Amino acid sequence: MTQGHDEVTTGAGQAPVYSPMARRFHWITVAAVFVMVPLGFAMSYRGNTLNIWDGVTDALYSSHKLIGFLLLWLTAGRLIYRLVHGAPPDEPTLEWWQKAGSHLLHWALYGLLLIVPLLGWIGVSLFPSLMVFNLFGLPPLASPDEVAAKRVLAIHGWLAILLALLVCAHIGAALFHHVIRKDGVLRRMLPSVK
Ligand code: HEM
Ligand code: HEM
Repeated sequence: MTQGHDEVTTGAGQAPVYSPMARRFHWITVAAVFVMVPLGFAMSYRGNTLNIWDGVTDALYSSHKLIGFLLLWLTAGRLIYRLVHGAPPDEPTLEWWQKAGSHLLHWALYGLLLIVPLLGWIGVSLFPSLMVFNLFGLPPLASPDEVAAKRVLAIHGWLAILLALLVCAHIGAALFHHVIRKDGVLRRMLPSVK
C-alpha cells in the first residue's frame, strides 16, 4: 500500500489531511451509497413483496441501476487515484491495532464498492433487465440465464448488507475518534478543511 504521497498539510504545525480530490471522491461515494442501499430495499419490496410492477417500480429500478453503474466507475477511478497518489501517513497518536484495523476496513470497503455493483450489473445481464428508464440499455456482461440471475442478485443483496454493516462500523469508528478519543482522524476527511 502506498502511503504518504497524497497529503495536504494545513495551518502551522497541523497534521496532514486527505487531498481535496480524495475527499471529494469519499463524500460523493457516501452520498451514492446512502441512496443506493435504501433504494435497493425499497424497489425490491415494492416489486417482489408487494408485487407492484408499475412505472414507479420501474423508475426505482432504473435509478438503482444507473446510480450503481456510475458508482462502479467512480470507484474504479478512485482506486486508481488512491494507488497512484497514496494516502497521508496514519494519524500519529493511533495504536498499531487501530492502524491495522482501519486499513483492513478501508480495503474491505473498496473491495465491496467494486464487487457489489459488478454483481448487480452481471445479475441484470443474466436476467436480462438492462434497460434504464426505457432510454438506453447497459452493455451486457453475460448471456441470459434466469436461474443464475436470481443466484447472483441474491449474493448482490447479501454483500450490499455486508457493505452497509461495515459502513456502520466505519462511521462508529470515525465518531469514536472524534467524540471519545478526541484525536485528529475525522478532520483528515472533512470536506471543509482547506
Ligand atoms: C454499490 C452499489 C450498489 C448497492 C449498495 C446496491 C444495493 C442493493 C440492495 C440493498 C438491494 C436489495 C437487496 C434485497 O432486497 O435483499 C439491491 C437489489 C438489486 N440491485 Fe443493487 N446495489 C448496487 C448496485 C447495483 C447495480 C450497479 C445494479 C445493476 C446494474 C444493481 C441491480 C440490482 C437489482 C436488479 C436488484 C433487485 C434484485 C431483486 O429484485 O431481487 N445494483 N441492491
Ligand atoms: C458509505 C459510506 C462510507 C464509505 C463507503 C466510506 C469509505 C471510506 C474509505 C474507503 C476510506 C479510506 C480512504 C483511503 O485511505 O483511501 C475512508 C476514510 C475515512 N472515512 Fe469514510 N466512508 C463512508 C462514510 C464515512 C462517514 C459518514 C464518515 C464520518 C462520519 C467517514 C469518515 C472517514 C474518515 C475520517 C476517513 C479517514 C480515516 C483515516 O484517516 O485513516 N466516512 N472512508
